[in-house]
Amino acid sequence: MRLELYKAVDKTPNMKDYDSVYESFQWEDTFDHFSWSKTGQYNMAYECIDKHVEEGYGEHVALKYRDKNVEASYTFKDIMIESNKAANIFRNQADVTKGDRVFIFMNRSPELYFALFGILKLGAIAGPLFEAFMEKAVTDRLENSEAKVVITTNELLNRIPHNKLPNLEKIIVIDDEVNASNDVLDYYEYYDSADETFDIEWLKKDDGLILHYTSGSTGQPKGVLHVQQAMVQHYITGKYVLDLKEDDVFWCTADPGWVTGTSYGIFAPWLNRVTNVVFGGRFSPEAWYETLEKYDVTVWYSAPTAFRMLMNAGDELVHHYDLSSVRHILSVGEPLNPEVIKWGNNVFKKRIHDTWWMTETGAHMICNYPSMDIRAGSMGKPVPGIQAAIIDHQGNELGPNQMGNLAIKKGWPSMMHTIWNNEAKYNSYFVDDTWYISGDSAYKDEDGYYWFQGRVDDVIMTAGERVGPFEVESKLVEHPKVAEAGVIGKPDPIRGEIIKAFIALRDGYETSDELKEEIRVFVKEGLAAHAAPREIEFKDKLPKTRSGKIMRRVLKSWELDLPTGDLSTIDDD
Ligand code: PRX
Repeated sequence: MRLELYKAVDKTPNMKDYDSVYESFQWEDTFDHFSWSKTGQYNMAYECIDKHVEEGYGEHVALKYRDKNVEASYTFKDIMIESNKAANIFRNQADVTKGDRVFIFMNRSPELYFALFGILKLGAIAGPLFEAFMEKAVTDRLENSEAKVVITTNELLNRIPHNKLPNLEKIIVIDDEVNASNDVLDYYEYYDSADETFDIEWLKKDDGLILHYTSGSTGQPKGVLHVQQAMVQHYITGKYVLDLKEDDVFWCTADPGWVTGTSYGIFAPWLNRVTNVVFGGRFSPEAWYETLEKYDVTVWYSAPTAFRMLMNAGDELVHHYDLSSVRHILSVGEPLNPEVIKWGNNVFKKRIHDTWWMTETGAHMICNYPSMDIRAGSMGKPVPGIQAAIIDHQGNELGPNQMGNLAIKKGWPSMMHTIWNNEAKYNSYFVDDTWYISGDSAYKDEDGYYWFQGRVDDVIMTAGERVGPFEVESKLVEHPKVAEAGVIGKPDPIRGEIIKAFIALRDGYETSDELKEEIRVFVKEGLAAHAAPREIEFKDKLPKTRSGKIMRRVLKSWELDLPTGDLSTIDDD
């Protein structure tokens, strides 16, 4: 039985003609949509939630949540009240104020979303942490950001090494039967008496919004700070790229620990006032098809690895579900391969639309639009307001069909504002203070379509998740039997890439399958499950530069059976 009748959504795309919109578009033309265009005061939480209540949409369903135990539905008014209570509790019990970093370390639940808007209403900066992170990953991020408060659950609490984090003042646990102490607070102890109203902290356009940690090829994960004005781009790409309309039911499958799960799992749908579906359980093809059917999802945003896993489950399964409500499907995070597009055409009778962007860009950059002729394998064309180019190492623009660095002209609304505590790293992204260099290589064809070629650095994209080899290598060498470790992405038909580690053992230790497993578990339990190498190969020695840096390029050549090239030309850095 359907929960409610599916309301047919107008199928005419919001953007009817890409070329003319692209030509004439100005970011300023969208400002009227936001209350700050009149008041000069910003707050993402207001634009996503409270504004809709004030404008008479309080009873509109904002969130439909399900996991294996729970099914619940919340209106915009419900979320307004719940986030007001959260804001009051965070302020009164943990003294959270504007600019503080408050992290959320929770599995997907409605409370995660209430807590996030509570943080934003206080003008604090929200830091989402993926639930699979183990102690080292959690510690590095809380330390670097000097987080003041963490919101978590009983299950994840013991991964937060409170005593090693001098800036961390309070941990607030949203759960049943919390073992509270001076610094560990029980959210529900304060919940009933918490006021349902809250005066939102008004901010400027450059004030902090969200801090996402992401990986590069060197160094620890870096904190990418996004600011309030990012909402301009979240809103407009929600409208033009996701094609969100009044009666849509939208499902973004990404976790809010990653940027897709916030920019498009939270902000874009709610800025566009649509119903947002959140599925909190583990992936299974049955549960996913059921979610699409049960909620009459109309717009669905996921990733190639997930599509490939569904594809592997077979087409027969699909026939058990009525998926006819789905009108628009999008993909992000990895190259969208032709087999997946073909599968989408067969199963959904729909073209899957690829979108390209990154944590640092904060929102869509290059996309396929419902109104556009799609070239299978191409990421599409720049979002209106975005100027993209293929450039060489000196910053010169290259012509059609020439491969180079994919770059974006600096200054779009959702561009990262800084790298937390690392101005030099931030500056290193830009050439001539003009072009943002993505780290991806690509080319543009004669008609302006962009084609992804690969990463120019060693960053690994595994199952759509970005993993920095350095973070994994650092964990590996903490293992008492590991002397040296080098980590690469190895091509994989389902996950895009898997993590492969080459390891040299300390003297006196024998290689064995048991030891491989021991090392894998060591990373899984110390860092994160998705960062644990799926493959390990022991070597007597690893190739290094004269200064001792492991040459991942050579490891990759070994793996792919390619010539290793002239090793003497490798930079000695
Ligand atoms: O290599 C590109 C790949 O994902 C990287 C960004 O990862 P992250 O910051 O975790 O953000 C992921 C989702 C926003 C990019 O540098 N990537 C992203 N989208 C695509 C892609 N690769 C190929 N095709 C895409 N559509």
